[in-house]
Amino acid sequence: PLVPMSHFLPRAKQEGYAVGQFNINNLEFTQAITEAAKEERSPLIFGASEGAIKYMGLKNVVALARAAAEESGLPVALHLDHGSSFEMVMKCIRAGFSSVMFDGSHYPFEENLRLTKKVVEAAHAVGVSVEGELGTIGGVEDDLKVDDEDAHLADPEEAIRFWEETRVDALAIAVGTAHGMYKGEPKIRFDIIEKVSKNIEAPIVLHGGSGVPDESIRRSISLGVGKINVNTENQVAFTQKVRALLEEKPDLIDPRKYLGPAREAIKEVVKEKMRLFGSSGKA
Ligand code: G3H
Ligand code: ZN
Repeated sequence: PLVPMSHFLPRAKQEGYAVGQFNINNLEFTQAITEAAKEERSPLIFGASEGAIKYMGLKNVVALARAAAEESGLPVALHLDHGSSFEMVMKCIRAGFSSVMFDGSHYPFEENLRLTKKVVEAAHAVGVSVEGELGTIGGVEDDLKVDDEDAHLADPEEAIRFWEETRVDALAIAVGTAHGMYKGEPKIRFDIIEKVSKNIEAPIVLHGGSGVPDESIRRSISLGVGKINVNTENQVAFTQKVRALLEEKPDLIDPRKYLGPAREAIKEVVKEKMRLFGSSGKA
């Protein structure tokens, strides 16, 4: 069965590693991520954004994740990524999700706090873990677009208070990463990670994990990041492979002939991330 993130995240923070959240967009993404986790013996978080749920269908998302958990025997969490409303969170929980993110970061602080508390109360009552978000993460992910001027870092004092009052299982804070591709190198505020992490029990979540240099990832983890979200790097690996194969062989018509190798490309990316995050061998 699918497990909440509270099944493995406390240990990750204690032992100083991070568990990756890899977003799923279709069957091949799901299979690639599962295969990678099996080979690495790593706990696993499938991220499903509202856009991906719309694309795949809610029932298919849950069915794929359940099949992966059953077939792999690994601890697998199915996590709603950037849930935008209480209603969406409840819909996913009813459908079988074992974890949800409520992203109230675009609301004023007190409103975010109030809504997140409500989500935690409902989710924890049925054994589902919750991730909250504070500060605004820039960049583009599906329908979620935040301009650079509107992206702002999390305030450490607010973040600590937010955790104390909501008791979320994982806390995403804006520390300088962004969704999607980076133009330059992200400037991560390690001081914010350190200050918040020291004062809360839950691990910190790093969104926009694609394109962040390995050294910055290692340092973030050493300071208390226990969950890292990756989507864009897998999309790039998948699409580059499909594009190259179709260009190389214009007569290809069997989708398995290009989706299979593209799936393999994602698997390699995910395995590397699991080793970098230190979650290999922890399942
Ligand atoms: O919530 C999902 C992640 O934050 C993905 O970010 O596409 O930049 O890897 P990314
Ligand atoms: Zn994100």
